[in-house]
Amino acid sequence: MTDLVTDLVDRPTVGATHGRTTAAAAVGGGVLIAGWGHAVPERRVTNHDLARHLDTSDDWIVERTGIHERRLAGPGESTGPLAIAAARMALDRAAVTPTEVDLVIVATSTPERPLPATAALVAAELGATAGAFDLNAACAGFVYGLASAAALVGQGVARTVLLVGADTMSSIIDPDDRSTAVLFGDGAAACVLVGAGPPEGNGSTEPVRTTGAGAGAPGLVAADLVGDPAGVDLLVVPAGGSGRPASAETVAGHEHFLRMDGREVFRRAVRAVAASVGRTLAQAGCTADDVALFVPHQANARIVDAVLPRIGIPAERTSSTVHRFGNTSAASIPLALAEAADAGTLEPGDLVLLCGFGAGLTVGSALWRWNTPGPAGPNGPAGPIGPVEGAL
Ligand code: ACO
Repeated sequence: MTDLVTDLVDRPTVGATHGRTTAAAAVGGGVLIAGWGHAVPERRVTNHDLARHLDTSDDWIVERTGIHERRLAGPGESTGPLAIAAARMALDRAAVTPTEVDLVIVATSTPERPLPATAALVAAELGATAGAFDLNAACAGFVYGLASAAALVGQGVARTVLLVGADTMSSIIDPDDRSTAVLFGDGAAACVLVGAGPPEGNGSTEPVRTTGAGAGAPGLVAADLVGDPAGVDLLVVPAGGSGRPASAETVAGHEHFLRMDGREVFRRAVRAVAASVGRTLAQAGCTADDVALFVPHQANARIVDAVLPRIGIPAERTSSTVHRFGNTSAASIPLALAEAADAGTLEPGDLVLLCGFGAGLTVGSALWRWNTPGPAGPNGPAGPIGPVEGAL
């Protein structure tokens, strides 16, 4: 029998190839989004398609939500493959190899499997020995992930982070429930975050966090991560977790599907998003006029319409993809960001304001100083947001 201890010490250390800095060597020059990518399923489902089997109409859906169509996953297009396809595009455009990634974070509430984390599956498929974990903050997940990743890079815990927002909402939506089936879609988008400039203690004195809208280091300027505990029961999947494991009874009762009090979510979301954005701008010493682009969670165009006058940002400086993809949960903000970045909307130094809300209720805002030199990232132009390639 092999001696386990001898066997262990004879093998290379996992992660030995990484460019990881130590916690004592925090990055001092800010954090760059070095590349971004996206993937959506092939199947386009219009409101008219839904109206063939649901008691609904294109007029009702467009008027109440602004959604015209969404992408729904087919075989081989679940959260893992979508996340991997988006991650591959982001890495390619950042000119970063999987072995250079220190940490993979996947924001999702519809993981590929209960175990292991979807982030671990993504890392394994890419051939990365990076640390990997999932983050569930529902539709606010990407903002929570961005704030977490920036903090970890800023502290030198990781130098290169692959952050993915990915959800297959169709896996938890009752296709026969018109009150939810019309709202959601599936997709993924990813960013590669890289520490910029020399580590602190190596000559740099520039802080990662800055205040004001003037010149400053790229990356996270301010963030606000909060909750609305009174809304904890407004959006739930009742069964399938440890409190109520999946059984024939829970499936028969449709308890593995999302249940939502849409009206109350709507009311609370408008107030919470406006308040969170206000706190984030105040923390940064900025006003709405300083924001080059607002990227809100794409749940419902009416929620965004109600938020904009409250925060003083016009629709022309707001990214919108809800009409084409519906609510893709944790993928919604990075998809909208990727689309704006692909269109060349962002210039280095621009302030981008992201804000998400979701089940929990979780709310999160982040003000990010854009950095990437061109619309396509260092590795050339990207195509339009299109179907997923590759599978687990
Ligand atoms: N087609 C036609 N009629 C419908 C549909 C539909 N798809 N869905 C509901 N209705 C009916 C209702 O039954 C109701 O009929 P009634 O008056 O006879 O009872 C009527 O339309 C009005 O229903 P409301 O729920 O009051 O409609 P509302 O104007 O509030 O719009 C909506 C509903 C679109 C869900 C809205 O409340 C909303 O967008 N809420 C926010 C939801 C949200 O953002 N959720 C995601 C959060 S992020 C996350 O973590 C997943």
